[in-house]
Parts: sequence; structure tokens; C-alpha cells
Amino acid sequence: MPTAAEVLRRTGGRTIKSIVYDEGTIAAKVAELGQQITEAYPDGDLLVLGLLKGSFIFLGDLVRKIERPLQVDFLVASSYGTGTTTSGTVRLLYDPETTLEGKHIVLVEDIVDSGNTVRKLIELLSERRPASLAVCALLDKVAMHAPMPEVAFVGFQAPTAFLVGYGLDHAEDFRHLPFIADLT
Ligand code: IMP
Ligand code: MG
Repeated sequence: MPTAAEVLRRTGGRTIKSIVYDEGTIAAKVAELGQQITEAYPDGDLLVLGLLKGSFIFLGDLVRKIERPLQVDFLVASSYGTGTTTSGTVRLLYDPETTLEGKHIVLVEDIVDSGNTVRKLIELLSERRPASLAVCALLDKVAMHAPMPEVAFVGFQAPTAFLVGYGLDHAEDFRHLPFIADLT
């Protein structure tokens, strides 16, 4: 565990409430998820699609724990709606260049909260006729949404706190923290 001084050096003096998942805990979980994905796709083409920006660190670690051939691409989505929620429609700002048709798609998301982002993206990606479509989320705030069978791979069932680090941001800050912390 980093000392308080080490944390403050990384955050520029902004305090966090606590470290919820430390580096070792995250690494062990990512290895487990990689193994689950390896076993779930014995054959066929596998495309791992990272949803930017939040998944950038998770995806980098995850694909190195998947021991079968795969390709990587990214999605950038923007959501409209009230501005403060993701309940509006989702539009793709960057669309994967690879075709999805006939491939097994694993959509990689940092955190599922209301589930709206993932639900909308699944709808949109299904139209491209993939062989299968599943979501791998590092964190899932299960208390915030009805059960979502599409979210087949989950790292941690997260508390309903606001979490930052390991890709997750608050107003674009804290993404670089090697651990996941509760900001609230
Ligand atoms: P949803 O559409 O409500 O499921 O929200 C998912 C998106 O909201 C994620 O991709 C994150 O970008 C963001 N988000 C939700 N909860 C948190 C959090 O605790 N910390 C940082 N970002 C979050
Ligand atoms: Mg975000």
C-alpha cells in the first residue's frame, strides 16, 4: 500500500477517502478475468473492444492475460440526454475499423453504474451481426441497475461510491492512479 504522502504526490495534494482496491488485488482479478475469457472462447475470432477512455489501463492489462488469438479495437461513445446522466442516446465518435460481423465481441468497460451506456452500446453493436456479444466490466455497481446478463465478466461488485483510478476519472483527473480509490 502506498503511504499517504505517496498518494498526495500523485494527486497533487487532493485527498481521497480510501483505497478500495490496491494494485495487487486488481492484478489478481484481471488475471482471473483473462482466464475466464480464454476459457469462454475456445474457437472463432475474438475482438476485444475497449470503451475509451475509462478502459484504457484495464484493457491493456486484460489482453495480456487472455491466452488465445485476439484483435483489439476501441470505441469512443458520446451520450446525449440530460447532461448529468447517460440516459440519452449513445453516438459513436470513433467507430471500430474492424468488421464485427461473425466475430465474438467482448466489450470492455471500466464501470457499470445505471447500465445505460452498456445497454445502448449492446443495442448498437448487435446490429453489426457479431457471432456473440458480451461485456467485461472491471467494476459493477450492481445495486444501481436490474440484472444484466450481457455483463458476463465482472471483476468486482463495486460499492455505490464514486471511484477513481486505474482508468476511472473525476473530471479527467485521477485516471493514472495505479489503485482504485473512493473519492467521496
Ligand atoms: P452508466 O451508463 O450509468 O452505467 O455509467 C457508466 C459510465 O459512467 C462509466 O463508463 C463511467 O465513465 C462513469 N462512471 C460511473 N460511475 C463512476 C465512478 O464511480 N467513477 C468514475 N466514473 C464513473
Ligand atoms: Mg468517465
